[in-house]
Amino acid sequence: MSLKERVAGAIPPELLDKVPTSFEIIGSRSGAVAVVEIPPELEEYKHVIAKAITQMNKHVRAVLRKLGGRRGEYRLYEFEVLVEGPTEVLHKEHGYYIKVDPTKVYFSSRDQTDRLDVAKMVKEGERVLYLFAGVAPYAIAIAKLAKPRLIVAVELNPWGFKYMVENFRINKVKNAVGIHGDVATVAPLLRGKFDRVLLTLPLGAYRYLPLALECLDGGGVVHFYHTGREEAPFAEAEAIVRDVCPNCIVINRRIVRDYAPGVYKVRIDIYKPDHIT
Ligand SMILES: C[S@@+](CC[C@H](N)C(=O)[O-])C[C@H]1O[C@@H](n2cnc3c(N)ncnc32)[C@H](O)[C@@H]1O
Repeated sequence: MSLKERVAGAIPPELLDKVPTSFEIIGSRSGAVAVVEIPPELEEYKHVIAKAITQMNKHVRAVLRKLGGRRGEYRLYEFEVLVEGPTEVLHKEHGYYIKVDPTKVYFSSRDQTDRLDVAKMVKEGERVLYLFAGVAPYAIAIAKLAKPRLIVAVELNPWGFKYMVENFRINKVKNAVGIHGDVATVAPLLRGKFDRVLLTLPLGAYRYLPLALECLDGGGVVHFYHTGREEAPFAEAEAIVRDVCPNCIVINRRIVRDYAPGVYKVRIDIYKPDHIT
C-alpha cells in the first residue's frame, strides 16, 4: 500500500495529490530514520503522514521533515522532527554498513547505485583520493567491492570524520586513512600520489578540479560531480572540464539522480593521460 493510499481516509481528497510519493529511509533492521518532504498545504496533516510512514516501515524510529534544500559548508538539511527517536543509524547497502546521523552529517542512501558504479571501475592496486568524503560511503564501497592499495579520505565536518573512522572500523577496512581537514589545505600536500580522485561536492567541486587533477600521479581518472539542467545535464560540467583540462578525455557521463526540480546531480569521469598539464 502506498503512503497516499494509507492516509486516504484522514486527508481531504483534494489534497491527496500533494502527499509525497516517496521518502528516504536511512538505516537497517536495527533502526532507521525516514526523511520526507511535506508541502505547506499538508501542514495540518504532517503527523498523520509521519505516523503512516512508521506503519509502513517497522524499523523506522524517527521521522524527519526536510525544510528546504541542503545548506552551508557541511551540506545539511534543516529538519522538523515529526516522530522523535534516535537519529544515529547503521545503514546497510551492498553488503557493507554505514554508521551515520543524518542530522549531523551529509548522507544520501539515493547515491548507492552510483557508489556501486564507481567501485566497479577501481582496478586492483589503485591509490584512491576521496575528497569531500562525509562519512566515507564511497570509500567503504570501494574497499569492500574492489581491491585498492590505498584510500585517503578528506572531510571537514568533525562528525563526518568521526563516523568515517568508525565506518572503516565496522567494515574492517585496513587500507584507508581519514583526514579531518579542509580540502583546500590538505589536497595540495597530496599532489602526484594517486591513480583516481573522487570529487563528490556537486555544488562547488569545479573550483577544486585543477587541484584534483594535480593529485594524480601523472595520468589517471577524476570522478567530477556537478549539477546540470535536464535539457542538457552534462553541458556545464563538460565545459568546465574543457576549460580546466583541454587534453583530458571524458570517458563517462552519468545522471546520478534528481537534485532539484529540473536539475540533476551528474558525474563526469575524466581521464587525464600521463605527461600532460
Ligand atoms: C555532498 S557531501 C558528500 C559526502 C560524501 N562523499 C557522501 O557521498 O556521502 C560533501 C561533503 O564535503 C564536506 N566539505 C565541504 N567543504 C569541505 C572542504 N572545504 N574540505 C573538506 N570537506 C568539505 C561537507 O561537510 C560534506 O560532508
